[in-house]
Amino acid sequence: MYRIPRFCLPALLVASLFPVQGVAQTAPKLDVPYVPTPEPVVARMLEMANVQPEDHVVDLGSGDGRIAIASVKDRGAKSALGVDLNPERIEEAEANAQKAGVADKVTFEQGDLFKKDISDANVLTMYLLPRVNMQLRPVILEEMEPGTRIVSHAFSMEDWEADQTDVVDGRYIYLWIVPAKVQGQWQVKNGEQAFTLDLAQTFQNVRGEATVNGRPSTVEGKLDGERLHFTLGEQQFIGIVDGDEIKAVSEGGAVADWSATRS
Ligand SMILES: C[S@@+](CC[C@H](N)C(=O)[O-])C[C@H]1O[C@@H](n2cnc3c(N)ncnc32)[C@H](O)[C@@H]1O
Repeated sequence: MYRIPRFCLPALLVASLFPVQGVAQTAPKLDVPYVPTPEPVVARMLEMANVQPEDHVVDLGSGDGRIAIASVKDRGAKSALGVDLNPERIEEAEANAQKAGVADKVTFEQGDLFKKDISDANVLTMYLLPRVNMQLRPVILEEMEPGTRIVSHAFSMEDWEADQTDVVDGRYIYLWIVPAKVQGQWQVKNGEQAFTLDLAQTFQNVRGEATVNGRPSTVEGKLDGERLHFTLGEQQFIGIVDGDEIKAVSEGGAVADWSATRS
């Protein structure tokens, strides 16, 4: 009779406890391990993102679903989607949504967060890793609508400075508002006056030059989503960017009646 050599017995025991082949076939290779965000941090993330009833919230790497569920249950969001590569997490999240009574408004999808079209989110939440945030950054800046709020637990996006930062129980939370694109040359009308505005943009920061009556002046400004504000001399300009048009917002002491068209 064939006898198993004694030195093989420990290995066989381990193999019987962990069916390695089966695991290797089914276990997804995660880019980020599962670590849940504590509830007070979830609450503050959604507060910073100012989640509203008209919002669709997407949580990339959704774990047990707590952020997507709280978006709808606690903040009244219209809908939420959680994406996770691990089917076990999806099962758990779906059960949690049922328990919370929000299964009709919260969906969980098993899949790779890098392959998901996230352009319909008004709010994007993440608890990932610095490298993953940086891989997502160009997608966020290129494909998401200006004004979309991005909240990240723990990890920044390097030189794209956050619009707001907070710390809850020692944990960092970052908020960014996707800025409109204003780089280029604009023809500005300000009542009877017309001038050229050359703008360069780095994320939400805007610098440039305005040429008024042949005289150049430096312009410094900022974007808050689609809302541009800049100072020219003593004057404050605030406007809403809509593609190649900017329309004035009359507010406080800002110039009331101006508009701009990109040339
Ligand atoms: C740190 S946990 C965050 C869970 C949840 N968002 C929270 O804050 O409580 C990261 C999650 O990302 C998931 N994940 C890792 N790599 C992924 C990928 N490529 N696509 C989708 N999900 C992924 C993991 O399964 C894990 O549940």
